[in-house]
Amino acid sequence: MDLSGRKVLVTGASGFIGSHLVEALVRRGCRVRAMLHYDSRAQRNNLELVSPEVLRSIEVMAGDVVDPHFMLRAVEGCDAVFHLAALISIPYSYVAPSAYVQTNVVGTLNVLEACRFHGTPRLVHTSTSECYGTAQYTPIDEDHPLQGQSPYSASKIGADKLVESYFLSFNLPVATLRPFNTFGPRQSARAVIPSILAQLLAGARELRLGDVSPVRDMNFVGNTVDGYVRLAECDAALGKVVNVGTGRGVSIGEIAELAMQVVGRRTPIVTDSQRIRPAGSEVRLLLCNYSRAQELLGWQPGVGLEAGLEQTARFIKDHMELYRPEEYAV
Ligand SMILES: NC(=O)c1ccc[n+]([C@@H]2O[C@H](COP(=O)([O-])OP(=O)(O)OC[C@H]3O[C@@H](n4cnc5c(N)ncnc54)[C@H](O)[C@@H]3O)[C@@H](O)[C@H]2O)c1
Repeated sequence: MDLSGRKVLVTGASGFIGSHLVEALVRRGCRVRAMLHYDSRAQRNNLELVSPEVLRSIEVMAGDVVDPHFMLRAVEGCDAVFHLAALISIPYSYVAPSAYVQTNVVGTLNVLEACRFHGTPRLVHTSTSECYGTAQYTPIDEDHPLQGQSPYSASKIGADKLVESYFLSFNLPVATLRPFNTFGPRQSARAVIPSILAQLLAGARELRLGDVSPVRDMNFVGNTVDGYVRLAECDAALGKVVNVGTGRGVSIGEIAELAMQVVGRRTPIVTDSQRIRPAGSEVRLLLCNYSRAQELLGWQPGVGLEAGLEQTARFIKDHMELYRPEEYAV
């Protein structure tokens, strides 16, 4: 499917990745319906940070993926749906697991049903590398077992399996993007890179972190968004899960070192016990095998970690009002 000129729905459009995807789809020539989570202040969150021209060119729709009636209306008339809306914090999933099942599992079911009802020609669903849990082998390809090491991960596995079942049972034209850790401008301090950079840029005398030994594959948001667009346009990817990540593993400690170089300030790292996850829940190692993305989509991770850190640091420096570095954000 060529996306140019198509009407597309993005759920989670005012989120971190969603806002970048909206911009990329507008650049690709799509007519974008941006669905964001309703609140009584009509806040547009990250969509406030896109250019006025982009904002003027899109249709904004507020609602809730948990509402099946709303989702039927949201999907109506669309040629493609990008489903990103989700609850994504792992620590918050320890305290509100039911909300994760509602939003991530039931919400995805509603998107699937709406696409099935309307005969929507293309759905791109969002998974996460968290579904793999601690690597049993590296690099992790799409055949790696799935392990629910947190309620978040379990809810995303549930959603992914519903997607699989709608492809196999109803031939729904759906493909699943499985991003490894994504970072970049606009990401909240819930995630480790903005948390580190915001603390350093605020002049904190010590850097408060959880366990610094887990290894992650950090992919710049522009690379992930490129994966969404390519996946939506690839007919051969229907029914498939496709990893996007860089193939480079870095520990949280190494990321902190790189961030200190980017910011030009060194501080001691101290362990903050509230940031330590239960032992069985901590995913110790994630490292992506992106061969399938390369072969099917011609995808490559364009922007590397150091360049991405520079861009992210610049954004945080210019938007310190969005961050509270002294607090642990979940
Ligand atoms: N950030 C990462 O490192 C990463 C990695 C892998 C996968 N993902 C996945 O990518 C997607 C986007 O993540 P993100 O990092 O941009 O997170 P985000 O929290 O910035 O975006 C998620 C969006 O979903 C919206 N949302 C939550 N509940 C909703 C509901 N009931 N109805 C409608 N909207 C709702 C939120 O308001 C938010 O704007 C998620 O599906 C996430 O699981 C993220």
